[in-house]
Amino acid sequence: MPYAFVVTRTGCEALLKREVSRTRPEFRPAFSRKGLVTFRVPEEETLETLSRWPVIFGRVRGLTLRRIDDLAGLPAAVAEAVAPWRGKGPVRLHVFDRDGDDPRDDRRPFQDLARTLRDRLRESAPPGTFHGDATARVEDLVLDVLVMGPREVLLGLHRHHGDQSPHPGACPPLEPPAAVPSRAWWKLEEALLRTGLHPRAGEKAVDLGCSPGGASLALMHRGLEVWGVDPTPVDPSLVLGNGPGRFTQIQRPVQAVHPGDLPREFQWMVVDINEGPDRVLPEVRRLAQGRHLRGLLVTVKANRLEVADRIPIIEAFLRDLGFRQVRLFQGYHHHREFMAAAWGQRG
Ligand SMILES: C[S@@+](CC[C@H](N)C(=O)[O-])C[C@H]1O[C@@H](n2cnc3c(N)ncnc32)[C@H](O)[C@@H]1O
Repeated sequence: MPYAFVVTRTGCEALLKREVSRTRPEFRPAFSRKGLVTFRVPEEETLETLSRWPVIFGRVRGLTLRRIDDLAGLPAAVAEAVAPWRGKGPVRLHVFDRDGDDPRDDRRPFQDLARTLRDRLRESAPPGTFHGDATARVEDLVLDVLVMGPREVLLGLHRHHGDQSPHPGACPPLEPPAAVPSRAWWKLEEALLRTGLHPRAGEKAVDLGCSPGGASLALMHRGLEVWGVDPTPVDPSLVLGNGPGRFTQIQRPVQAVHPGDLPREFQWMVVDINEGPDRVLPEVRRLAQGRHLRGLLVTVKANRLEVADRIPIIEAFLRDLGFRQVRLFQGYHHHREFMAAAWGQRG
């Protein structure tokens, strides 16, 4: 029986299982750790089918090769794992760590070990085994080496496709400016990287749930003029001016904002309100309707398990607003949430 693995955010394991029970009821949850769930899958599932398996509550997924609990044996296990592919071109080596056990704690207990193992595996592999650069290109074969604990590693394989992150563990290489007020800076920059969207200087954006201001800051640094909606004041650096863009706050709940309070035209809407999608999406529709947007980026809070059942409804909601391109994914910097990105609006 083959096994699939999915790396998720710690705290999202139940959401992932709920999603999979809807989309692949024949997949059976098997071995798991915080931030990792494996599934026993039918015989006909392969590296290729699992590499195209759409999972929202997961950052990396693929075919499980084996579990290792003796790190001394890791180089030999890796050599054995890549042996069938020898002579077919180098493989991308992705060595990365799972999240820590506490979903509220962003520290990464196994990060240093993952770096050490990566260097050791690169040194010990025969020349030509791995690409020098870990960033995967479409159709590349990726060997996933997931560090699960001080002595425990999971080996997996996936083939990279464009709808996935090409980076080890889906961790994007981002360089924040000094004094970023919130994690939302990373969430937005990661979404732009994953979707290939490029907000341009001089464009206008509306940021619903903007405080303390990480996402608005990212847009201002790109030279956009931002209208932020939030009852809570933003970080003073935004108002004083930060980057080439400009910022105006409408200090009210979104429910109290009239479409006429927003600029006549704006190209981007960014949403990150800490309420569930049932309360947030109707407000998005009310304020986005009749506009022509280049992109809509909604952080959907998975405040309840049932949000995993609502994924098709959220996709349909975005298409109903006229967007041709819709992509839902959990990014590396998300907590109990995911990104619903839409672009290419008709008309
Ligand atoms: C995760 S934070 C947003 C982070 C922010 N996007 C940033 O870039 O730093 C969620 C925000 O939603 C705001 N919020 C909660 N209910 C809201 C509502 N009804 N209307 C507007 N904002 C709301 C909260 O005040 C909070 O600042």
